[in-house]
Amino acid sequence: MPLTIFPSAGLRGTITIPGDKSISHRTIILAALAEGTSYLNDWLPAGDCNATIEALRALGVRIEATAQSETATDLVVHGVGLTGLSAPAAPLSCHGSGTTMRLLAGVLAGQNFSAVLDGHEGLRRRPMSRVARPLRQMGAAIDTNGGYPPLRITGKTLHGIDYAMPIPSGQVKSAILLAGLFAAGKTTVRQPGPARDHTERILDALGVTVETDGTNITISPPEHPLPAFNFTIPGDFSSAAFPLVAGLLVPDSHLRLTNVNVNDTRTGLLDVLQAMGANITLQNVRESTGEPIADLEVTTQALYGTEVGGDLVVRMIDEFPILAVAATQAKGRTVVRDAAELRVKETDRIKATVDELRKMGGQLISHPDGFEVYGPTPLHGTVVDSDGDHRLAMALAVAGLLAEGDTTIRNARVIADSFPGFTTMLRTLGVEVAA
Ligand code: S3P
Repeated sequence: MPLTIFPSAGLRGTITIPGDKSISHRTIILAALAEGTSYLNDWLPAGDCNATIEALRALGVRIEATAQSETATDLVVHGVGLTGLSAPAAPLSCHGSGTTMRLLAGVLAGQNFSAVLDGHEGLRRRPMSRVARPLRQMGAAIDTNGGYPPLRITGKTLHGIDYAMPIPSGQVKSAILLAGLFAAGKTTVRQPGPARDHTERILDALGVTVETDGTNITISPPEHPLPAFNFTIPGDFSSAAFPLVAGLLVPDSHLRLTNVNVNDTRTGLLDVLQAMGANITLQNVRESTGEPIADLEVTTQALYGTEVGGDLVVRMIDEFPILAVAATQAKGRTVVRDAAELRVKETDRIKATVDELRKMGGQLISHPDGFEVYGPTPLHGTVVDSDGDHRLAMALAVAGLLAEGDTTIRNARVIADSFPGFTTMLRTLGVEVAA
């Protein structure tokens, strides 16, 4: 399904950003493992998260939606306890969701049954040895297809490990910590960089002992059942990134994005945009269920090229396609390095971002571990392709707002994997869109 974006000016208004995808996955998995009924509000009804619901239902968890809109769902989860999951009758499809597959691998490692985790073609190309290796060290039996899905996981009695992750990853860390819930003894994960810490925060709120020493995390298996809980999911900073950059680049714009999660492990893009000269205001900073939240206000501003590398990369791992769009409009050279991980996301995000933005007139060069962009360059509308990547599709839509002529994004249906209501949001801001 293609999406056509017409050039736009003067984006104005207040937008509520849909719920955080990472927190949606984690809360529903932990609610399923808790004892009793949990209530999750403003949960994200996106393709990726729905894959986690389906898989948990197939593992015997009763989950009901009590209220539903295009962008938010209220869920009631009838937790089965740490030992209450049941063997699924068929392979579990994770659709295109890497988070579903890697987090559930951690849970399944500690069960007393076997299950298969599979997914769509795009997911079948994503590396899974990074979770299989530590989970095997903990005692699980895991077969992969040469390091790729499907995964056949035979749960075992696990024991704690001390594991140094070769690359920083919120998914791998979470898989190990979730397996740590079922292990005898403590499990330590040593991270080479500060990957998102939502799992640790929720576990801590549920009374599980999680000790943090710099980037090293140690979990002790809980002595009591996990309690049921209530959680309101804050807006996803990775979704907010698209209107945020649009508000900076589209002439005469003024946007307010409400209720956005501003956890420091996620907001590397804010630091980079500030280094590029942007002034983004955080208002009404508050805390909700252990996560910092704020309203972001942005107006059109001139940007300058910058350099991104090191620990910043993991703190903005999903924001590189939209950063590349910002960089096409920034004066000077923007360089991204230390970001080879982008090559194994929903698509090869270095190649696809560079190729598609070049079609629109952007001046970009790819490198094995990043890319560079020269700006400012006028963009022109043309036909581009998401390559099955929701975040690239939305970045191209923002580029389309700035381009001369209309921009058609092929395979734009995938936007609903993380940001249902994206097209509706653009229309609310007065953008002309044909879908
Ligand atoms: C996620 C972690 C990141 C991110 C993904 C969601 C998570 O992946 O790209 O969109 O929820 O833990 P990696 O752990 O592979 O870096």
